[in-house]
Amino acid sequence: MNDDPISNDSANPHFAQLLTSLSTGAEIRRRRLLQMGLGSAALSFFGLPALAAPAGRPGPGFTPIAASIEDTVRVPAGYTLQLLYAWGDPVSDGPAFRADAANSAAEQAEQAGMHHDGMHFFPWIEGDEKSSTHGLLCINHEYTDEGLLHPDGMADWSHAKTRKSQNAHGVSVIEIKRDGSGAESRWQVVRPSPYARRITARTPVRIAGPAAAAPAMRTGDDRRGNVVFGTLANCAMGFTPWGTYLSCEENFNAYFNGLDQPSADQKRYGVRKNGGGFRWHEHDSRFDVATAPNEANRFGWVVEIDPWNPAKPPVKRTALGRLKHECATVTLASDGRVVVYLSDDEQFEYLYKFVSRDRFDATSAGDNTSLLDHGTLHVGRFDADGKGRWMPLMHGQNGLTEGNGFADQADVLIRTRQAADLVGATKMDRPEWIAVQPQTGEVYCTLTNNRQRATAEAANPRADNAFGHIIRWREDGADAAAGSFAWDVFVLCGDPQNADPNQQGNIKGDAFGSPDGLWFDQAGRLWIQTDVAGSVLNRAEYQRLGNNQMLVADVVSGEVRRFLTGPLGCEVTGITATPDSRSFFVNIQHPGEVGGARSDPATPLAGSGWPASQFAGVTGGRPRSATLVIRRRDGGVVGS
Ligand code: FEO
Ligand code: CA
Ligand code: CA
Repeated sequence: MNDDPISNDSANPHFAQLLTSLSTGAEIRRRRLLQMGLGSAALSFFGLPALAAPAGRPGPGFTPIAASIEDTVRVPAGYTLQLLYAWGDPVSDGPAFRADAANSAAEQAEQAGMHHDGMHFFPWIEGDEKSSTHGLLCINHEYTDEGLLHPDGMADWSHAKTRKSQNAHGVSVIEIKRDGSGAESRWQVVRPSPYARRITARTPVRIAGPAAAAPAMRTGDDRRGNVVFGTLANCAMGFTPWGTYLSCEENFNAYFNGLDQPSADQKRYGVRKNGGGFRWHEHDSRFDVATAPNEANRFGWVVEIDPWNPAKPPVKRTALGRLKHECATVTLASDGRVVVYLSDDEQFEYLYKFVSRDRFDATSAGDNTSLLDHGTLHVGRFDADGKGRWMPLMHGQNGLTEGNGFADQADVLIRTRQAADLVGATKMDRPEWIAVQPQTGEVYCTLTNNRQRATAEAANPRADNAFGHIIRWREDGADAAAGSFAWDVFVLCGDPQNADPNQQGNIKGDAFGSPDGLWFDQAGRLWIQTDVAGSVLNRAEYQRLGNNQMLVADVVSGEVRRFLTGPLGCEVTGITATPDSRSFFVNIQHPGEVGGARSDPATPLAGSGWPASQFAGVTGGRPRSATLVIRRRDGGVVGS
């Protein structure tokens, strides 16, 4: 790698010729600012009006469906499903998916990655209107099942297989458009598209913010410490009021072969011998910690992507800390500073909040491109009295001093977990997605489960937390930048038929557990997606709860209704919608996963035949993660 960060490694083979059809810089800028309807409608996602109950009752308006153990996606009566974009589908006009997984590494770099996760729809701007029939969809591809990715799985592991695996990670940006109306309407991926691109574990990504260029970020390949090949473990996401996408690097440690005797810092992030068994280090030495000791420091960040400018490299924003980042949910403080809620998904990890130094500029002259480079990262403490505090992780404060082993702010950010340990943050039951209620500014977070918790405490009120819960808080003064807040538990998940009262939960409505994806629609309905681990799905405590699913909650009454059930072995994750809320996009991840293990390439369909089993004309051969479109037959608002 050379030191020049301006290098477009777009997978799109037609990038050069299509670039000429792109909008001008000024037009891109205008689109970006209009993205969020800045002005009036901006408040729907980025303002914090005074706390008040939402107008009307935005509760769910459909008939809930039963739990399912079928190998298909079910939705309520009156809804339609369309398969939009499955693993291996071309991003632009690239190669078609091959059912036997024989696509090469180079072909995979022009196709949808595996294991779709968080995503966001960026509407096209037509005049001054946000389109609900045309836009860009950014989709994370979290990880791979090597047993399905290659015809013979991990046998004869090679450089080519490593490259294909790396190219199946990262992010897709696709252009999509809807034709027709009502039940007949269909969304299509626009092919070719000048906006379409794949960002993979090999795409050059700029490193910005306080940790950029720090000694611990420098490697033999990148002596300046300001550019890294790729992003990986892209789990959930966020989006900004200036029209960019935030992709979060979660289980990055799985890709590194650690040392026999890892350092305390490496242990704190789980960088261990053989990692998660991906074996990339055998053919790419930067994933071998003994050879490239600092490379793992360059992962575990939030990555900002400008979907409107495919020539622009993604940027790792180090001011947001280094974690196993689940999501990066953005809102605005009352004075216009940017607030990003962040979560670290592991048992006993923490919740974080970043507050920018500078204010968001909504004028067309505004340059918001470095807002996420300057500010203060905080970690949450949830006290037993229902109050909480955001504690700054700033070098020189709260004991984060040289005397305690923190050299400077870069060190605090590269070792965010250790800094948070030192200031006494509250250990949570696996923080996953965070969602801000658009009318009240209340913040909700899924705590997916934690069977290792021995002792209940206030904010994590169950020992042996098999089903998880959803916590919520209100910032003091209704200001997202506040240093303190009040919290309560919105719901304890569980199965009311469980013989153990500790596992019954208190759901008003349909039972579920292991909440993960969490998202508010514009009316204030809370959409909950589950990720019950393959090792317990439809077994033991989870034997009555069916396949992973998506539910809708009325946060005023607490009522929960089941809206969607996924196929066998899948997790349901990733949700976004058009501005009119009449087209929803939902991801089905890892259908067919059995017991949490890699698939056996000899029997790729052993766990599921989805999506070919459900949708005519879809190439099968193996289960494929995919983006679905959900619409009402009558064209109405989804969920109402
Ligand atoms: Fe990638 Fe915590 O889910
Ligand atoms: Ca997740
Ligand atoms: Ca999860």
